[in-house]
Amino acid sequence: SILIIDFGSQVTQLIARRVREAGVYSEIVPFQSAEAAFARMQPKAVILSGSPASTSEIGSPRAPQAIFDAGIPVLGICYGEHTMCAQLGGAVEPDNHREFGRAFIEIAEDCKLFEGIWAKGTRHQVWMSHGDRVTALPDGFKVVATSPGAPFAAIADENRRFYAVQFHPEVVHTPDGAKLLANFVHNVAGVAGDWSMSAFREEAIARIRAQVGPERVICALSGGVDSAVAAVLIHEAIGEQLTCIFVDHGLMRLGEGEQVVTLFREHFNIPLVHVDAADLFIGELTGVADPETKRKIIGRLFIEVFEAEAKKLALDGKPAKFLAQGTLYPDVIESVSFTGGPSVTIKSHHNVGGLPARMNMQLVEPLRELFKDEVRALGRTLGLPETFIGRHPFPGPGLAIRVPGGISREKLDVLRQADAIYLDEIRKAGLYDAIWQAFAVLLPVQTVGVMGDGRTYENVLALRAVTSVDGMTADFYPYDMTFLGRVATRIINEVKGVNRVVYDVTSKPPGTIEWE
Ligand code: XMP
Repeated sequence: SILIIDFGSQVTQLIARRVREAGVYSEIVPFQSAEAAFARMQPKAVILSGSPASTSEIGSPRAPQAIFDAGIPVLGICYGEHTMCAQLGGAVEPDNHREFGRAFIEIAEDCKLFEGIWAKGTRHQVWMSHGDRVTALPDGFKVVATSPGAPFAAIADENRRFYAVQFHPEVVHTPDGAKLLANFVHNVAGVAGDWSMSAFREEAIARIRAQVGPERVICALSGGVDSAVAAVLIHEAIGEQLTCIFVDHGLMRLGEGEQVVTLFREHFNIPLVHVDAADLFIGELTGVADPETKRKIIGRLFIEVFEAEAKKLALDGKPAKFLAQGTLYPDVIESVSFTGGPSVTIKSHHNVGGLPARMNMQLVEPLRELFKDEVRALGRTLGLPETFIGRHPFPGPGLAIRVPGGISREKLDVLRQADAIYLDEIRKAGLYDAIWQAFAVLLPVQTVGVMGDGRTYENVLALRAVTSVDGMTADFYPYDMTFLGRVATRIINEVKGVNRVVYDVTSKPPGTIEWE
């Protein structure tokens, strides 16, 4: 495996992605715990990430000395290059002309890192983002590439197999970057690229069996991809020892609750307890307008209902000792923080985080090492239907946060119908996969309209669609007007209660994806 030491760059996760795409397992650890992780993993090679820090600041992070003494290959990227130089006897200085964005490097020497990719004397596009630069090399190193802003754009000590680059090979703006990283792991470090989803699946099944033994496991299904993939995988490992509980809060999209039930019971033959709790949830939410209050109510009720179901199950057998969750790698990676200050809560996401401690259960989290698209690939090998795997993200509180103003059952029904028409048109137009998330929001605003010979006075419906890579930032989707016109006409004609449709053209930031 490959150890990636994170010094806090925004793009460290991409290094892990590229290494895995090369078929090699990799783990990211924050620099503070790198020493212990290095001893535990005994990796075949180490990659040092970039960082917002500067090696010239007092107390700036360093790599554990052990990685340089172990005789294994090390690749430093940006700050990783700086700290490698600083630690091995070179020099790094702040640069008065910062370099940011696209740059061209020239290959000064052939070296193993560039083999089969970049030849001596050629020029190549890379992505730079740095304020400091190397000014003197440690003993044993030579310059293998230069750029106008970075005379030490790439350096190498081929005897010790230490390489470092000032640019970022992990981002797509360095077109050959993925090949370079693959070269580092395959050719420099000699690690074969045989890590695949089916290998992962077999390992994961073995680990689940070893962890769970003969005990029972319960799993909360949300209707989303992650919990579904976790449940199907665990079912493959331990069969009937698993019980799935689907708390249906009545805030799902049209038909989605039934789809989950059918998929599990009929397609996979997995025992599923379907709790229809719509009356309870909608009862408590009726009239509630504040977004955070909505989330708190939903979170609390979810735990209460789930707990009660788990108790019922325990009556007809052993109580479950384990709780399964579809936690993904991005939730697990500890973020490296330099400010130390608390971050502001914009929205308190509802999840089942409070459950295990309260119910005194241990966690089974078979997807902890995977990124979202890897979970999708695993889902495919497990036979989940493509329509389910490719689903847009859907928030835990569901339609409750898409009805600003007080919630009522009637408003939820109106929204559900309009939302279904909108998604139907998106699918028909072949746009579904180009969009990260699309949904309708029923506004608490009434406007005057005219239909036939009569006056109408009904609600406004807002349509939202965004593109995004991770949900952290987003752009509104640039539909053509004909499409929007078609959706608006259908909604106004078919849904009683809506007489005006508008499109939201706010990006994130400054907006958020959801309205609440
Ligand atoms: P925002 O609205 O914060 O959303 O830009 C980013 C992503 O998170 C989803 N979201 C939630 N998911 N519980 C969830 O499980 C929540 O309370 C919640 N609020 C927003 C949102 O749909 C988008 O994918």
